[in-house]
Amino acid sequence: MAYKLLFVCLGNICRSPSAENIMRHLLKQEGLSNKILCDSAGTSSYHIGAAPDRRMQAAAQKRDIRLVGSARQFSRADFEAFDLILAMDRANYRDILSLDRADIYGEKVKMMCDYATNFPDSEVPDPYYGGQSGFDYVIDLLLDACQGLLQEIKQEM
Ligand code: 4NP
Repeated sequence: MAYKLLFVCLGNICRSPSAENIMRHLLKQEGLSNKILCDSAGTSSYHIGAAPDRRMQAAAQKRDIRLVGSARQFSRADFEAFDLILAMDRANYRDILSLDRADIYGEKVKMMCDYATNFPDSEVPDPYYGGQSGFDYVIDLLLDACQGLLQEIKQEM
């Protein structure tokens, strides 16, 4: 059985699709694409069906990573379907856990920045209302956090 990761942000058009596609890129490099599967979702319904934001795509392209996917909303079924759920910021974390009515999935939900080793951030900043540099920053932060996360998972496996 493959290990399943779900990356979650607010809109599922900037941060979480970036994390999903960056992690898939790293898994391909390491030959682990069949062992670890990635998906992403948003806590909101704002952008359901939308492709990743063009500004985020441009930032990812600079690192030779292509962003694919269409936005969907996080749902309660995701608690069972995934082994680990990564929240991009504290609001996402709180919104995810607010759907865990029986209070049984808390151990599966982690903050993405807990796995970063070269960045001081405790949250992945929301780049949506800022300039291009914010999108570039998110890609580099997520590359670092995804590498850290992958190291941890490999050790557990
Ligand atoms: P994301 O970014 O949560 O990283 O996908 C955002 C996308 C859309 C909005 C906010 C953040 N919005 O307010 O529509």
